[in-house]
Amino acid sequence: MATRTTLIAPSILACDFARIGEEVRDVERAGADWLHVDVMDGHYVPNLTLGPPIVAAVHRVAQRPLDVHLMVTNPLALAGEYRSAGAHVLTFHWEVAGGVAGARAIARGYRDLGVPVVGMAVDGATPVEPIRELLGELDLVLIMSVQAGFGGQSFQASALDKTRWVRRQGFDGYLQMDGGISPSNAALCREAGADVLVAGTAVFRAPDRAQAILDLRHAPAGIPQMGGLPVEGC
Ligand code: DX5
Ligand code: ZN
Repeated sequence: MATRTTLIAPSILACDFARIGEEVRDVERAGADWLHVDVMDGHYVPNLTLGPPIVAAVHRVAQRPLDVHLMVTNPLALAGEYRSAGAHVLTFHWEVAGGVAGARAIARGYRDLGVPVVGMAVDGATPVEPIRELLGELDLVLIMSVQAGFGGQSFQASALDKTRWVRRQGFDGYLQMDGGISPSNAALCREAGADVLVAGTAVFRAPDRAQAILDLRHAPAGIPQMGGLPVEGC
């Protein structure tokens, strides 16, 4: 894992939505690799966020790939619209798939739509072992380090074991962690095998976003925080 480059994906959920285009350009200048787009349907999670027209608008100004995290109960039905809106990474939740066969059907449906990076997320309270048979179908596994639904929650250290487990199965795709990630716990995530770190609060609310992104990518374990805000870690 030492040779993998860590990608940083700021979650635009934490941006100033009145200035979304400027915010996107600002975090790109600050060094963002992907732009994480949290889609919430008010059903799988209570919160309600970004529909396809907003994602298409972000795509028009973005230079970096859009990493679209679908927290919705019908991720196959909505996939075409989000793909057309510019999703490069499209991630559905294991919890809504109805088991291995259902998840496989969703992943294959995404491939049929031409989704470049097909991802599946495992929520904070969900065990990871049942996804073993699916790993060969996926380009990206997202281990949630909070329960999906809101930004600004505290990091759950139990996600680190789940991340390690995925790598131990020989999974060689993108391994993403999302929720409560800050410079104070990023090294633990990287050491566990994560190579894509999502961060909303720790980037958008940082006094220096470029420094926060550098710290997420490189800060060693044991440095509680540098450029980011004092977000609680593990
Ligand atoms: C939670 C979302 C996360 C969240 C990250 O449901 O999937 O992407 O916005 O925000 P922070 O980094 O503030 O926890
Ligand atoms: Zn997310």
